[in-house]
Amino acid sequence: MQFILEKRSDVVRPPVASELTALRALDQKEKQHMAPRFIARQLSHPKGLLGRMMGLLMNRHNAQMNAFAVRQLNVQPGDRILEIGFGGGLTLPRLLEMPLCVTGIDRSQQMVRQASAKFRRSIQNGRADFRVGTVEALPFQAANFSNVITVNTVYFWTSLGAGCSEIHRVLAPGGRAIIGFLPKEYMAPMNMPVDIFTLRAVDEVRTALHHAGFSGTSVERPSLSTKWNVIVATR
Ligand SMILES: C[S@@+](CC[C@H](N)C(=O)[O-])C[C@H]1O[C@@H](n2cnc3c(N)ncnc32)[C@H](O)[C@@H]1O
Repeated sequence: MQFILEKRSDVVRPPVASELTALRALDQKEKQHMAPRFIARQLSHPKGLLGRMMGLLMNRHNAQMNAFAVRQLNVQPGDRILEIGFGGGLTLPRLLEMPLCVTGIDRSQQMVRQASAKFRRSIQNGRADFRVGTVEALPFQAANFSNVITVNTVYFWTSLGAGCSEIHRVLAPGGRAIIGFLPKEYMAPMNMPVDIFTLRAVDEVRTALHHAGFSGTSVERPSLSTKWNVIVATR
C-alpha cells in the first residue's frame, strides 16, 4: 500500500497492524474516497498514531521549504522565536542549535506532546516551550517575540485576517513574520478537499499582512523555478 501526498507517489512505509485493522473496517466505497480526505485531515490536524506518521511524512516533504524559511529569520543571539504549526518539528533542531528561545504552538495535541518529549532538555533549560493553541487566538502578550515563523499552515487558518493580526500583535516593533506556503495555482491540481484546505494566493496573503499593519512584505524563493514561496513581512 502507498500513501500519496502529492501528484507524484511517495512510498512511506506499509501500515502497521492497527492501521490495517482500521482500514479494513471501512467499506470499499469509503476506501475509494478516503485517501485524499484522510491525508488532508491529518495534514491539517495530525492526531493519534497516524498523526505521528504524518509528522514524519511532513518532515520528509517539507524539508527544503522549512530550511529556507529558517534562513529568512536572520536571527540574532537572544531572539525570541515563535513557530506556529510546527507539526513534525522540522525546524526545531535547527532553531535550538542557535542561542535563541523558541516557543512553538500547534493546534494538534499529538504534535505538542511529541515536540515536548523530543526537546525535553531544551524545555528544562528554559529555551523551549510548546503549547496547544491556534494562530487565530495566540495565547501570548503583545510584542512578545522578535520573529514568527509558520510553514505550510495558511491553508488551514480559519481566518487569514485574524491570523495575520495575531502575528502582528505578538511581534515586537521591527520584528519579522516568515510565512512559507505553496500558492493556490500550484496547490489546485492536487485536488485537496476544499472544506479542509483553503488555497491561498500570494497577493491575498500579502494584502492580509498589510491590512494587519505590517509595513512591508517581500516574496522570497531560492530560484525562479521553485513553486513554493516564503513571504517575509516586517512589523
Ligand atoms: C501541514 S502541517 C505543517 C507542519 C510543518 N510546519 C511543516 O512545514 O512540515 C500543518 C500543521 O499546522 C497545524 N495547524 C493547522 N492549523 C493551525 C492553526 N489554525 N493554528 C495552529 N496550528 C495549526 C497542524 O496541526 C499541523 O501540525
